[in-house]
Amino acid sequence: MIEPETQTLLAPLEATMTQALDAVANTHLQDAMRYSVMAGGKRLRPLLLLATVASFDGPVQQALPAAAGLEFLHTYSLIHDDLPAMDNDDLRRGRATSHKRFGTATAILAGDALQAEAFGLAAQVAAPPAVVVALVQTLARAAGASGMVAGQVRDMDGEHHRLDLAALRQLQAEKTGALIEAAVRMGALIAGVGAADLAALGDFAAAFGLAFQIQDDINDATKTAAELGKTPNKDVAEGKATFPSLLGLDGARAALAEQVAAARAALGGLSRPVPQLSAFLTYFE
Ligand code: IPE
Ligand code: IPE
Ligand code: MG
Ligand code: MG
Ligand code: MG
Repeated sequence: MIEPETQTLLAPLEATMTQALDAVANTHLQDAMRYSVMAGGKRLRPLLLLATVASFDGPVQQALPAAAGLEFLHTYSLIHDDLPAMDNDDLRRGRATSHKRFGTATAILAGDALQAEAFGLAAQVAAPPAVVVALVQTLARAAGASGMVAGQVRDMDGEHHRLDLAALRQLQAEKTGALIEAAVRMGALIAGVGAADLAALGDFAAAFGLAFQIQDDINDATKTAAELGKTPNKDVAEGKATFPSLLGLDGARAALAEQVAAARAALGGLSRPVPQLSAFLTYFE
């Protein structure tokens, strides 16, 4: 799905994550953390972070712990998203969900540990202290009470209320958009991107994040378990507010195209060509 040039960053990213997992002393906890991290996710967020660094000639090697941390944080969000009290899902990344494999208590704790380690990894970036603080802060804002978790709260609440389009966009921006925006912002911080480009990158990330969740919603309604590596038709089963539920499939596809165009336009406003970032838009083709 992602351009070959960025794919070359995959091996060092995986190595950084493996090293962090190897360092977990409790073997049961380590097994549970590794099980979910190494189940074969697309690595979209860390690759987006690294591609942003590379696009602005920043130090890609130094960015690896931040990228690994972001993927840990995302993986924690998936483990908790699948719990019986949330989406109650059996299948994730083509495997039994963490709580199905290890039990609910261990799944919760593996998620907790991945979340804490994510911040530890972000703090390991070899950069001036002000940059490191900004990285940790950016991750905290995106993950927390006004980011991903806020979106998950709205998502659970949406099972009981019919949301309008504005409310749904807000939900998606928090639930999925926040971590995708963090990927781009953390990459920009490490590369020292200036204010004008930062604004355009923010617009790109917002549109890309929204497009990504619209695509996820469309996939849920149209793809098989084998294609998804997760349970299809789960959103209807759980009564979720999604773009297809609100706009129909065609409406959702039109909304997706609109966001992809907005993301492309935002990249066009940058001071330099960024083929590595443009390549991420091929995911939606
Ligand atoms: C799934 O994210 C959850 C959403 C926020 C849409 P991904 O589609 O990036 O899942 P993985 O990491 O590839 O498993
Ligand atoms: C989850 O959204 C987003 C997270 C913050 C984990 P979904 O519930 O749509 O994700 P999937 O479809 O289960 O991957
Ligand atoms: Mg969910
Ligand atoms: Mg889910
Ligand atoms: Mg989904």
